[in-house]
Amino acid sequence: MPFTLEGRTALVTGAARGIGRAIATRLAAAGAAVMINDLDEAAVTEAECGLRTAGYQAAHVVGDLTNPSFPEQMVKAALDTFGAVDIIVNNAGYTWDNVIQKTTDEQFQAMLDIHLVVPFRVLRAASGYIREAAKSEIAAGKRVMRKVVNITSIAGTLGNAGQAGYSSGKAAVIGLTKTLAKEWGRYNVNVNAVGFGLIDTRLIQPLNGGNSNIEMHGHQIRIGVQPAMLDAAKKSCPLGRLGSPEEAAGAVLFFCSPLSDYVTGEVLICGGGFHF
Ligand SMILES: NC(=O)c1ccc[n+]([C@@H]2O[C@H](COP(=O)([O-])OP(=O)(O)OC[C@H]3O[C@@H](n4cnc5c(N)ncnc54)[C@H](O)[C@@H]3O)[C@@H](O)[C@H]2O)c1
Repeated sequence: MPFTLEGRTALVTGAARGIGRAIATRLAAAGAAVMINDLDEAAVTEAECGLRTAGYQAAHVVGDLTNPSFPEQMVKAALDTFGAVDIIVNNAGYTWDNVIQKTTDEQFQAMLDIHLVVPFRVLRAASGYIREAAKSEIAAGKRVMRKVVNITSIAGTLGNAGQAGYSSGKAAVIGLTKTLAKEWGRYNVNVNAVGFGLIDTRLIQPLNGGNSNIEMHGHQIRIGVQPAMLDAAKKSCPLGRLGSPEEAAGAVLFFCSPLSDYVTGEVLICGGGFHF
């Protein structure tokens, strides 16, 4: 390991499963104390247990990030538990797909809420701590780099049929990323985004007629991808396969590490070379 995150505290949203859980595991294995969040209480408790059993420092905070007051509570929980927030990964997300003529206002807004408004509120909630910490470090002649990684998608950078809301939210968070990189450079914060291609989680499970619904705000939402589309994607992907959550987390770890201390406002695509 050419670096350590010993002494650093990370906050990872949507970390009960999938890519978020892999990100939290990689950060913890690199030495960070991790505060993980999810709205799925059983799964996030189990994820924290797994981290602790592996000997890592971890805690969790259960809650729905789209509740306007929750991002502040979550940042406070991280500060109360670990005394700092040095790394923030805005990972929580889901898809609620349809062609535009069948997309309701609620559905479109839900995609903007989770993928854009939530990262905005989380970062605003952390801004007081980050600015004060940076000011005193700078006054003491120290340069301490903090890290923000927002998760986007090739649906955001390229667009994807059937995903007007998801693609719009994932595109918009890139604007937030680039703007905060400019606002927070003076506080020594690297603000970057990682955009995924097809990563093997429940979000892209093959739709085989089985139960692939998630419940969100009283709606049963079907997630997953048509098997034919998955096969076609694998064929046109230069690496010829889906990515694993651990591989996805590797790209995020780069932006959380000192290896990226002079990189900010960028979008790294981790998708095996696949483009829609
Ligand atoms: N899997 C892919 O191929 C892929 C591709 C591009 C982008 N992404 C993005 O990667 C991120 C992680 O996705 P994943 O594939 O690991 O999905 P996943 O469904 O396995 O995990 C997402 C987690 O986020 C949580 N979550 C959702 N809404 C939440 C809310 N309001 N409050 C708290 N937690 C919430 C879920 O409970 C879940 O545990 C998402 O932002 C997704 O859009 C995934």
